[in-house]
Amino acid sequence: MVSLVRFGMLPRLVGIGHSLDIIFFGGRMRRHDTVVIVDFGAANGQAVAKAIRALNIYCEVVPYFATAERIAGLKPAALVLQRGTVCGATTMERVATADPYSFGVPVLDMACEAADAAALENFLVVRCGLKRDWTADSFIEVAVERIRAAADGGKMLLAMSGGVDSSVCAALAHRAVGSQLVSVYVDHGLMRKGETAEVCDVFGKQLGIELNHINAADRFLARLAGVVDPEQKRRIIGEEFIRVFEEAALGAGNPEYLVQGTIYPDIIESGAGGGKAVKAHHNVGGLPERIAFKGIIEPLKYLFKDEVRQVALALGIPASIAMRQPFPGPGLAVRCIGEITRERLDILREADAIFRAAVVEAGLERIAGQYFAVLTNNRSVGMDEGGRTYAYTVALRAVQTSDYMQARFVRIPMEVLAAVSGRITATIPQVNRVVYDITDKPPATIEWE
Ligand code: XMP
Repeated sequence: MVSLVRFGMLPRLVGIGHSLDIIFFGGRMRRHDTVVIVDFGAANGQAVAKAIRALNIYCEVVPYFATAERIAGLKPAALVLQRGTVCGATTMERVATADPYSFGVPVLDMACEAADAAALENFLVVRCGLKRDWTADSFIEVAVERIRAAADGGKMLLAMSGGVDSSVCAALAHRAVGSQLVSVYVDHGLMRKGETAEVCDVFGKQLGIELNHINAADRFLARLAGVVDPEQKRRIIGEEFIRVFEEAALGAGNPEYLVQGTIYPDIIESGAGGGKAVKAHHNVGGLPERIAFKGIIEPLKYLFKDEVRQVALALGIPASIAMRQPFPGPGLAVRCIGEITRERLDILREADAIFRAAVVEAGLERIAGQYFAVLTNNRSVGMDEGGRTYAYTVALRAVQTSDYMQARFVRIPMEVLAAVSGRITATIPQVNRVVYDITDKPPATIEWE
């Protein structure tokens, strides 16, 4: 059921502020009409946002307890209440009776899980007359302008990981400030097999941006020694990244701003937008309190992954980079369940390389948005020619997804899985069992930690 209501009243409730004294630069384009989606905890939380973006209309999601000031600050042209089936009348009653605050804009009340595209189009385009001008090209134009304005002639430090998000940031920032951009690639010792060489080679050459390679493996691994809690791993990595960037800045003419490729799902899943936290992505919830930079610039802060890829292609970034599978900032740390040691990382790297090669060989990388191995902390009894073994279980994960907010496990042919299992157990003596993860997101997440 979708009903059109006009009441323009929302409660003035206390929202979550964040304690960091840093400037977040959003990709929010003031030139575009903004739709604010008030999320009441609908199970399919991002579906409406994606449906609105698909109409080339810009929108942002805020939780139902967002402050009136925060919503007003977004200068909404329209509001959409996304109630889903889990909230219902009680919550709506609270909205209607709490301290009223008029935004003076039309409100669409969506009391259903599904994003009804026709109803949204009718409401936003026909009824509200919003402009459909949220495109990759318009995003690029304004983002470049805003990065240039933020830099104000000064230098900027770019955190490059080799993924599509930081590559897009690099291209935008390079367009904005040219040689004033200092790009840094930090090897934290948690990269995949051959990745550092590939990133430095391919990204430096293909994007024409000089990369400063910092080998920081020892310090990251020393800080992670003995740490098993996934969120603590992320916090340590998030902080250590910042410390390494701060040191790099000292030797590079002290850029005042750090540019990083945070995207919308990182914010949403970290709970930084005020919603429920799933995991504190290292670059959001994992950031330390004290940061020496004047500000952090996040040009992609409001983009979903598929939108980042569209921007990448519009920027002329090669498809091999634009379509690259994501690799999380904390790297293998969140795929090495339990304690992180060099030996365990090496085991994981080998298993992961075997699996990734097999997926590509089988032509499945077009379907699989992300595919990797996980080293579990489970050991079990097996056997080889010498008799009994007691070794690790490796889990394989491959998911089909466009936005990484929801995912479906890939139905990999049995013979491919069998070949991978055979190769892993034949070449890695510390592994005697291989399993395939057949769980969608939700209820699982893509990464195991
Ligand atoms: P989950 O595991 O939450 O992952 O389903 C969704 C997407 O986010 C990536 N991910 C991260 N990326 N820092 C990152 O840069 C993180 O802490 C982090 N945790 C998860 C994950 O690889 C997937 O693409």
